[in-house]
Amino acid sequence: MDNFLYQAQLIEEIISKQKLTKIKKDYTDISLKYRKEDINSVSVISNNNQALSYVISRMPETSVIIDDVLCKLNKIVNLKNKITSVLDLGSGTGSALWALENYVNNIDIYAVEKQEAMIKYSKELSNKLNLNINYLKEDVLSEKVKNLPKTDIVLESFMLNEMNKTDRIKTLDLMIEKSKNYVVLIEPGTPISYKKMMEDRQYLLSKNLNLILPCTHSGICPLKEDYCNFTVRISRTKTLRQIKNGFLGYEDEKYFFLIFSKEDVSKDFNSVVIRKPIYRKSCVDLKLCNKDKTIKNITITKNNKKNYVISKNLKHGDFFNFEN
Ligand SMILES: C[S@@+](CC[C@H](N)C(=O)[O-])C[C@H]1O[C@@H](n2cnc3c(N)ncnc32)[C@H](O)[C@@H]1O
Repeated sequence: MDNFLYQAQLIEEIISKQKLTKIKKDYTDISLKYRKEDINSVSVISNNNQALSYVISRMPETSVIIDDVLCKLNKIVNLKNKITSVLDLGSGTGSALWALENYVNNIDIYAVEKQEAMIKYSKELSNKLNLNINYLKEDVLSEKVKNLPKTDIVLESFMLNEMNKTDRIKTLDLMIEKSKNYVVLIEPGTPISYKKMMEDRQYLLSKNLNLILPCTHSGICPLKEDYCNFTVRISRTKTLRQIKNGFLGYEDEKYFFLIFSKEDVSKDFNSVVIRKPIYRKSCVDLKLCNKDKTIKNITITKNNKKNYVISKNLKHGDFFNFEN
């Protein structure tokens, strides 16, 4: 069965044992905290009810986002051949585990999380996944985490934005130190988050890491007053619609990510689609970030046969080359 379908079933089982009104209230509470954006060192989730609410309301979309990021990386390096171990910092209820299992099996995962309640749900949900998961209930900046073995990927998703600037830098240093090769950051697709990620980008570049994705180059980002993000569409069950007071059977979730590596990776793309393409009759409008450090809005018409075929199949977030 598809991993995310199986995850959805497990979550529905959990929901069926709970009072919907209580879940709805806890969901509203943590949503309000997350919406504050500059959370800075505040523990958004500190008890069992909030952890449960995270499982129900945030984990499905977070898993799909991480999957989307790994899918992009997998197009550049074959993860099955490259990865035998992963360190997941601020692993929460284990969203990354579900995405990772779509690309690699039977590998060693070190899941570091400071909240017991989050670990409890992570263990309960992921016990059938084909991964060797080692849990560590610790602050990511603790001595015990420093002593963990190095892993092929060091990943964090939606944890850095809970940290103040000093701890954020310390965490980036830790990620560099603990990684044998890849460093993956995944954060919300908001302007504030983007700004912080641009600082992280500069910091990691200054430490001589190679930027693989999503950028076409390692120069200063040419988006001046603007920002960039990516989107995944996540289906919502009837119960989720009730909890979130939503009407649609899906939601579009925005995120931003950065992938760095220690070894050189050849990137054979010149452009990345940074807005949802507009497909019109006989033409496609694209907003592109290009290797020559430019941002361009272009329209590809049917007359440009080869590139029109390429453009028609492009989605927001795709990286590619036009034909000359
Ligand atoms: C928004 S949740 C994200 C969980 C998971 N990474 C995901 O993508 O679903 C952030 C998690 O990071 C954890 N966290 C935040 N700061 C931490 C720290 N200093 N050490 C360990 N865990 C931390 C929180 O307890 C929380 O479970």
